[in-house]
Amino acid sequence: MAESMKGLRRSHRCTELSNSNIGETVTVMGWVQKRRNLGSLIFIDLRDRSGLLQIVFDENDVKTEGFAKAETLRSEFVIAVVGTVSKRGGAINDNLVTGDIEIRANELRILSESLTPPFPVEDNIDTKEDLRLKYRYLDLRRPELQSNIIMRSKAATLVRAFLAEEGFLEIETPILNKSTPEGARDYLVPSRVHPGTFYALPQSPQLFKQLLMCSGYDRYFQIAKCFRDEDLRADRQPEFTQIDMELSFVDVDDVIDVNERLLAKIFSEILNVEVKLPMQRMTWQEAMDRFGSDKPDTRFGMELINVSDVVKDCGFGVFTGALENGGSVRGINASGQGSMPRKKIDALVDFAKGYGAKGLAYLAINEDGTYKSSFTKFMTEEQLEILVKAMDGKPGDLLLFAADKNNIVYSVLGALRIELAQQLELLDKNVYNFLWVTEFPLFEYSEEQNRFVAMHHPFTMPMEEDLMYLESDPGKVRAKAYDIVLNGTEIGGGSVRIFQSDVQEKMFEVLGFNKEDAYDRFGFLLDAFKYGVPPHAGLAYGLDRLIMLMAKEDSIRDVIAFPKIKDASCLMTKAPDVVEKKQLDELCIALDLPEKEVTKE
Ligand code: AMO
Ligand code: AMP
Repeated sequence: MAESMKGLRRSHRCTELSNSNIGETVTVMGWVQKRRNLGSLIFIDLRDRSGLLQIVFDENDVKTEGFAKAETLRSEFVIAVVGTVSKRGGAINDNLVTGDIEIRANELRILSESLTPPFPVEDNIDTKEDLRLKYRYLDLRRPELQSNIIMRSKAATLVRAFLAEEGFLEIETPILNKSTPEGARDYLVPSRVHPGTFYALPQSPQLFKQLLMCSGYDRYFQIAKCFRDEDLRADRQPEFTQIDMELSFVDVDDVIDVNERLLAKIFSEILNVEVKLPMQRMTWQEAMDRFGSDKPDTRFGMELINVSDVVKDCGFGVFTGALENGGSVRGINASGQGSMPRKKIDALVDFAKGYGAKGLAYLAINEDGTYKSSFTKFMTEEQLEILVKAMDGKPGDLLLFAADKNNIVYSVLGALRIELAQQLELLDKNVYNFLWVTEFPLFEYSEEQNRFVAMHHPFTMPMEEDLMYLESDPGKVRAKAYDIVLNGTEIGGGSVRIFQSDVQEKMFEVLGFNKEDAYDRFGFLLDAFKYGVPPHAGLAYGLDRLIMLMAKEDSIRDVIAFPKIKDASCLMTKAPDVVEKKQLDELCIALDLPEKEVTKE
């Protein structure tokens, strides 16, 4: 039976008590983690968001009915205890903040009872994630998730304080919008008032923050919910949170400067990690050439080496064929892996094929200097020697080569490098390597759509040096765009924006929008730019990804209070769900799903 807390007031959270409170009468409230009976003594581990505290019910000093009640306590009951802080009678528990004290209870109230939970509320349990997500409110009681969610809250508070100090204004932008051009699929919301029309949920506040610059707000930020209907992965959710910002009268270096200081502040205050400033910077081209990735993990080497020149005259058709087709041959040196068993190498070949490779050529250097390789028969001794030298190959090393179009070679070796680092445990979660990747290509060619698409978004400024190629050779134009990468994850990205209408028009032309299309989609922005637009630039972080890395988690689900699963559904609320027919009728929506139950009665 639930009792009231009338007359009681919580005096402390569990771990706010220590040695210095010994002798004080306190009132604590929380959940029963565990009960142990020892004859005339009952021990309870009491849990709240701060941690655990031991409570002792001694038959001799707790009111009689209190002791009997304590005998009925089970895991997850919510209780209030009034008692005296004492030195621990038994052994000191060094694993607990409150390990040297206990509360000797005088009074107990059971505020609410609990069913037996479907899994124990403890860290390191091996309960399936699906079950934990169905009972998310219970899983969220676990110390690990609580500390992640608390870290996230602290980070948000710090961001607000830091940016306010730097002159940023926090301004909200609408959720019911016209479609924004971030490139993913939109989530749509039907309009009842205007049947047949739809709002799009924002993929980001991009256009609004640019309008705020036109309106003179100078520095804007927002901790903004964004929605993207894209395939989910460990670091992607359909709704996620950005720390979004935009600044007027600035260029690349200004944005980078304020953000480096912001990141340094967050890492120092929350993790006690001092980030060395300025952070490393690398152009996109260098990142691709050295790491095969636009978000390189720089915690380990194993860099790509271009051996195209070395193999161009060899007899191995796989290599020369790729070069004849305008591609390249590049390799990585998995140093010390020369004795990798054939089976494991074959698995790497299959892994490479998953990234579009036709194969993966390998050369293992035996300790005696001889080779074991998939292609030695096609090359002379001398050619092999030059190749091994170019790869800095030593006895005991394993050299892996991809030959193909550049984009395939990059993606195969970039992924292989990370795969090997994981297998070889080269990734230290205690190291935080930040890297700015700059000078991204402005466009990438979409084979699917048979046209250029914006790599970042259509409002990104081309580099001045490359403006002359905008129409003649768009693929060559670099952008004033930058990403901030942490340990191989893109945690944020942004750009300097176009603010000249002639450049913007050319940009739309290359993207294949005619003037009408462009006006139809972004007319309000283009019009706004006719009334005095300041040069401006900005950036947005994925807050979830940032916290995931800070909390050393592998999935962003572990830093989001109520996340969705891979198919974008919520196992707890069962969203998305069918709706009443009346609701659809009001929206003039008819469903075309004859096989399924499509509405509630
Ligand atoms: P961008 O699309 O690069 O830029 O997004 C910024 C950051 O948001 C995070 N992110 C995601 N996090 C979780 N789940 C997702 N589905 C997801 N998609 C993106 C990433 C990414 O770096 N408006 C521009 C920013 C600008 O130009 O100022 C934008 O949205 O960490
Ligand atoms: P093949 O002549 O197709 O049997 O290939 C000989 C070796 O080259 C095998 O080890 C293949 O895995 C490898 N190979 C095939 N295509 C490529 C490629 N595009 N890049 C690198 N290695 C390849």
